[in-house]
Amino acid sequence: MKDQLGIIITIVILVILFINIGFFIPKPKPKPIIINNNQLRQEALMHGLKPVPKTWVKAKRLVKDINDPLSTNKIKLGHLLFVDPILSKNKTISCATCHILTKGGADNRPTAIGYHGRHNPLHLNTPTVINAALEKMLLWDGKSPNIQNQAKGPLQAPFEMNMTPKEIVKRLKKEPFYVKAFKSAFKSHKITFTNVINAIGAYERTLLSRGSFDRFLDGNNTAISSKAKRGLFLFMRLGCKSCHTGISIGGQSMQRFPLKRYDGFIVPKSVFINGMPVFSKFEFHSPRFKGSPFPFPDTGGFHGRNNQFQFKVPTLRNVARTAPYFHNGTVKKLKEAVKIMARHQLGIVLTKKQIGQIVAFLKTLSGNPVNYKY
Ligand code: HEC
Ligand code: HEC
Repeated sequence: MKDQLGIIITIVILVILFINIGFFIPKPKPKPIIINNNQLRQEALMHGLKPVPKTWVKAKRLVKDINDPLSTNKIKLGHLLFVDPILSKNKTISCATCHILTKGGADNRPTAIGYHGRHNPLHLNTPTVINAALEKMLLWDGKSPNIQNQAKGPLQAPFEMNMTPKEIVKRLKKEPFYVKAFKSAFKSHKITFTNVINAIGAYERTLLSRGSFDRFLDGNNTAISSKAKRGLFLFMRLGCKSCHTGISIGGQSMQRFPLKRYDGFIVPKSVFINGMPVFSKFEFHSPRFKGSPFPFPDTGGFHGRNNQFQFKVPTLRNVARTAPYFHNGTVKKLKEAVKIMARHQLGIVLTKKQIGQIVAFLKTLSGNPVNYKY
């Protein structure tokens, strides 16, 4: 009896040792990353991580639309409409209620709350409107092709502003101020639903932000900390940039999420940076969200475009200011979101230090809309 117990204990110990063998394999001493500011900047620019321009003349080229030319009057009118609750049924909600520009362009709620306290039926989290005009597709399912088209949705959705195009036009026509403003903004001089969404879209196209990362890309070596520079390096070399790409650092494609399994063990892939493996150890995954197809609760039950787990890659500009995270807003901390991304999109386990560096980089993407002179 005693002998058997001894054997069982030995086996258990051996199994535990085997599982954690990664702990005992001596790891090569991490070499310092040898890459200078210029190389780092060149690598970022080469990967399409471009700075948002300082001047409107240059910025305008990025957001131009031949079918819907921008003019100062149209932009100014769009700004007024964006913040005016008159566009909602009970006159209490405007676009700016959920897209708060001083808070990174979103609402910091897990899910949006609109007309009469109604929650988004799919428990969708409000994305930022800042830099949204730089994205190739909009909404979590990527189904909206451009910013003007998108504005049709919230104006009419019963859980957002709950209006009809007819009601909107009727209301605005009663305001002499708007009658004048539409006259000066549009060739047709008319208040129409299309003109309403085009004006709002025109204003949204001016909402571009610059963070310290943009100043670094412009050539200022001290604009971001060395911790953030290491984070940028990891962001590029690990492959975050393959999905979060372009000037908006996201919003350029639909991608599957999650890509890698997450229950049971993670088997680390050999990812080496400067000869240094980036995974730290074998890890158990939290079985907490078993039953959910995501590494967080399946609140809202949204499973991507056509239920195919395809999501629009969100922009990471201002991400540090737009917690909580993911399509259903159930992840509160940015470091948790980064950890999840590394595991489930890249199949690697980051150290706390590496997560901290990536978060430091993501913080350099924060910025209010530039006060362009148009
Ligand atoms: C009740 C809160 C709420 C209101 C009001 C609201 N939005 Fe949104 N907005 C959201 C949510 C939630 C989403 C994501 C919906 C989805 O993906 O299906 C979103 C998505 C967007 C997007 C897409 C961003 C991206 O990166 O995909 C834009 C642009 C936008 N809204 C602009 C507007 C405009 C313009 C108005 C006013 C006409 C407005 N919103 C009113 C909550 C709101
Ligand atoms: C294969 C494509 C892909 C890769 C690689 C990838 N991501 Fe993502 N990322 C996505 C998608 C898709 C989402 C949205 C998923 C959702 O909300 O359900 C997302 C969401 C995020 C979010 C949450 C944003 C928000 O506003 O809610 C952060 C932060 C993020 N990614 C950072 C990273 C970092 C850091 C890396 C590298 C370690 C990375 N991503 C790698 C596709 C990718």
